[in-house]
Amino acid sequence: MINILNRKEFLRLLGIIASGTLSNPQQVLASIVKQSELSKSAFGNDFLWGVSTAAYQIEGASQEDGKSRSIWDTFSQKHRHIKDGSTGDIACDFYHNYASDIDLLKSLNMNVFRFSTAWSRVLPQGTGSVNQKGIDFYHRVIDKCLENNIHPWISLYHWDLPQVLQDKGGWMNREVIDWFSEYAHLISKSYGDKVKDWIVLNEPTAFTVVGYGVGVHAPGLRGVNHLLPTIHHAAMCQAEGGRIIRSNVSNANIGTTFSCSHVMPLRSLEKDHIAVERWDALLNRLFIEPSLGLGYPISSLPFLRNIDKHIKEDDMEKLVFDFDFIGIQNYTREVVKNIGIIPYMHGLEIHPAKRGAKDFSDMGWEFYPESLYETLKRFSNYKGVKKLYVTENGCALQDQVVDNRVEDTQRINYFKSYLAQMLRAKNEGIDVRGYLCWSLLDNFEWREGYRPRYGLVYVDFKTQERIIKDSGYWFRDFLK
Ligand code: BGC
Repeated sequence: MINILNRKEFLRLLGIIASGTLSNPQQVLASIVKQSELSKSAFGNDFLWGVSTAAYQIEGASQEDGKSRSIWDTFSQKHRHIKDGSTGDIACDFYHNYASDIDLLKSLNMNVFRFSTAWSRVLPQGTGSVNQKGIDFYHRVIDKCLENNIHPWISLYHWDLPQVLQDKGGWMNREVIDWFSEYAHLISKSYGDKVKDWIVLNEPTAFTVVGYGVGVHAPGLRGVNHLLPTIHHAAMCQAEGGRIIRSNVSNANIGTTFSCSHVMPLRSLEKDHIAVERWDALLNRLFIEPSLGLGYPISSLPFLRNIDKHIKEDDMEKLVFDFDFIGIQNYTREVVKNIGIIPYMHGLEIHPAKRGAKDFSDMGWEFYPESLYETLKRFSNYKGVKKLYVTENGCALQDQVVDNRVEDTQRINYFKSYLAQMLRAKNEGIDVRGYLCWSLLDNFEWREGYRPRYGLVYVDFKTQERIIKDSGYWFRDFLK
């Protein structure tokens, strides 16, 4: 079998075995061989292919047609927390360019467009009076998808809470369960006859921990007192949102997504293995386990022990919901080391460059395709998880336009290696039904601003011109 590998693949194989990350050479070989055999048909005719996007990252029109401010408007505009000082005020101006952007998606032969609805566009006061212009906008987006045989997938919440609700405590206030329920009813009733695929929350660990624990995302709050109620209320909304969609939408395919990763120890020391257990609980268990009736992973995450204070009678049952699918969002692996002084986690993720990783993205994230395989395997092992989709995966690079072309070979290689690992999982019987890459367009990458470019399509943020990158053409040909 070795002789069908080219030199680069062979060296990579040796490297993986030498690093001890996968001990079984047969296993590694299998995955590499599949990369050279990648084809659309290998995934089956029903497999879905598309892109994921999020309202604040692409829409712009931040104060147009009745939209109010979200916590991300406040966070980026007032506090200048964004590395390049930018905001999502205009972003990709998808609000005005949605039709031509969906045409671009169609030209790449993709059949899923995942987007999120901006709560502050449809309910400017967070609750109460509905902004019809906001509702109409998403009807236009959905209709444009349907005309092009593209399945519209809606995420209810991708981090942009209306600022008016943050002023009342936001996710820390238990009333958020009622606010979110009202919003979920509105969206699912408005679009439920046209949209069948639904995601309740995008990465609850990310928006709770990074926004309300560490404070480097909106709304910029820190500490365990902010974090614990936020986690519990988000987990309650995760389940309640699922129930609401099920009650309003016939034949709905309902899921929720997690930012998950394969976590490994820096050294083979017992204390680093303990750090792995904590990180794994945070990234991979915190929100799925309560939804499956397993409760919060308190014994592996000691900082959760006071979460009980926020749990009311019957809440443990209400946290449970029978999702039709789980969305796996994986970009890299985490390698962690035990460090006692780090708050909450007593452990730290070691930057890939510092541990000698060679290939990493503009986010500093290591290319580690086996993480996708391991993560799919891990989630499929939960009793109660029915099917999986990869709802985000992609790579940020510093793309350059030369002669109206973006030659992003590194991104093509990234996709090939991750798709090979997804195929490996599928061939082993893991029920993975689709792949949505992050993302269609270069966009506002939260606190990183516009520097990291993730799109299959390059965006010139001054002119709003779009250029399909080589990786976009690669998908177009792959999916032909
Ligand atoms: C988020 C996206 C983000 C992407 C790349 C995911 O965690 O859902 O909003 O842009 O990662 O960082």
